[in-house]
Amino acid sequence: MRTIDWVDGAIELVDQTLLPDRCVMLRVTTVDELIDAIRRLAVRGAPALGVAGAFGVALADGDTAAIARLRAARPTAVNLAWGVDQAAACLPQGRDAVLDRALRVRDEDIAACTAMGERGADLLDGDSLRIMTICNTGGLACVERGTALGVVQTLHERGRLAEVLALETRPLLQGARLTTWELARMGAPHRLVADSAGPYLLARGGVDAVLIGADRIAANGDTANKIGSYALALGAARAGVPFIVVAPETTIDAATPSGDHIEIEDRADHEVVEIRGVRLAPEGTRTANPAFDVTPHDLITAIVTDRRVIRP
Ligand code: MRU
Repeated sequence: MRTIDWVDGAIELVDQTLLPDRCVMLRVTTVDELIDAIRRLAVRGAPALGVAGAFGVALADGDTAAIARLRAARPTAVNLAWGVDQAAACLPQGRDAVLDRALRVRDEDIAACTAMGERGADLLDGDSLRIMTICNTGGLACVERGTALGVVQTLHERGRLAEVLALETRPLLQGARLTTWELARMGAPHRLVADSAGPYLLARGGVDAVLIGADRIAANGDTANKIGSYALALGAARAGVPFIVVAPETTIDAATPSGDHIEIEDRADHEVVEIRGVRLAPEGTRTANPAFDVTPHDLITAIVTDRRVIRP
């Protein structure tokens, strides 16, 4: 199954807001519909956003204002702007050239995820690995296979995976809703973990490696990823557990010197105050809701991309 694709002149994508209860394809025919799908996380995950951005330019029919709005729909994952820019650079050559480039962005993601899966699995020692991860970095965050969860999938296919400990990933529960769904479809053994249990489980010695994805990697290796990643990195460093970032080269932003320069998206109060319409806190409660955090490069053991392994 592809998470996102171009079908008969429009974008078709899995509406991730409905998972795990229902797996429904959403057909997107305008840039405004795509921006709405991106903002409400119907499509999400840095590589999938890159493909969405590229396909979105093909929908925009040369409307540069719409393309600029699409580029800015979510600020932290550099892949969205990158995908838009790749396709927009072909505008002078006409609509076919734009679509052609967008289709190649899709195909390059599929190839990159296969390469990352193999490189990441080769990097890890051991035949019975217990992997901790956060958010969703599987095929749902990309096109077919994932980044960090792509490594997990390759380990599982090679018979080297003992178990995945998947963090819930409050507030929007990408781990609980999406990662467990993908792991179950793979037939990979897994347990769901409350976010706050992550660092203690690392300290207790039940984890061989932490694998995470990335939304933007600065030139010095500082990595923005889903909120909660930094706490896991601190816990992993203290416990002496390898903390590995798995991301395509397209997530490296050489123009951003360090994590301090990465814009972190703050999201709405209701995401923290409610779960699926059920209020958890007194009415009117205000929140702090950063969607991402930055892990400093000195806490990262290695960054695995589709082309190389980068160490501090
Ligand atoms: O807010 P989301 O769900 O788009 O956040 C996604 C993440 O933080 C992922 O870890 C990251 O995009 C890498 S996905 C392969």
